[in-house]
Amino acid sequence: MIQQTLVLIKPDGLVRSLTGNILTRLSETKLEIVAAKITRVSKEVAEAQYRQLRDKPFYPELIQYLQGELHDRRKVLAMIYWGQHAITKLRSLAGSTNPEEADPVSIRGSYGRIRTSGLFENVIHASSSEAEAEREIKLWFQPDEIIVDLYPTQEVTLKEVKVRQWAP
Ligand code: PPS
Repeated sequence: MIQQTLVLIKPDGLVRSLTGNILTRLSETKLEIVAAKITRVSKEVAEAQYRQLRDKPFYPELIQYLQGELHDRRKVLAMIYWGQHAITKLRSLAGSTNPEEADPVSIRGSYGRIRTSGLFENVIHASSSEAEAEREIKLWFQPDEIIVDLYPTQEVTLKEVKVRQWAP
């Protein structure tokens, strides 16, 4: 079963220079990266990412965490991994959400921690189901940023849209 999944290397992963290690671990899956970007995370995107958790006590801090405000590193590496059983493979390599319960050889088990506030600082996010992957991929990426066709698209003609280009 071919699947796609959203992977985020969160600000703690970037600030601790764990990207290389994490990408090496993820390359064991033999999955293909079909989109990747370093991006600043707006409050709107962070809130949409975790919308199902808005009633949790840790929600405000979770939003600050994803935006990089806890690590003074306001960016994440967002990627889409694609291939056979991508969701299960990524979740298994990432390890349990709670870093203290995660298998010590998993990414979260190796590098995650729990803040004194109780917030999981677990370095990586990976989509939990096909429905969540679709919702999250559409939140983080536009169709033209992805090198394969994952979901149906439509063509629209935009008039008078201002874009920035390289100066001559
Ligand atoms: S999961 O793994 O996505 O299925 O888990 P879910 O329960 O839906 O998402 C929980 C996300 O909130 C982050 N978080 C915490 N969860 C529970 N307890 C505490 N204290 C906590 N702190 C943070 C957790 O890391 C999940 O986000 P992601 O990005 O998936 O890691």
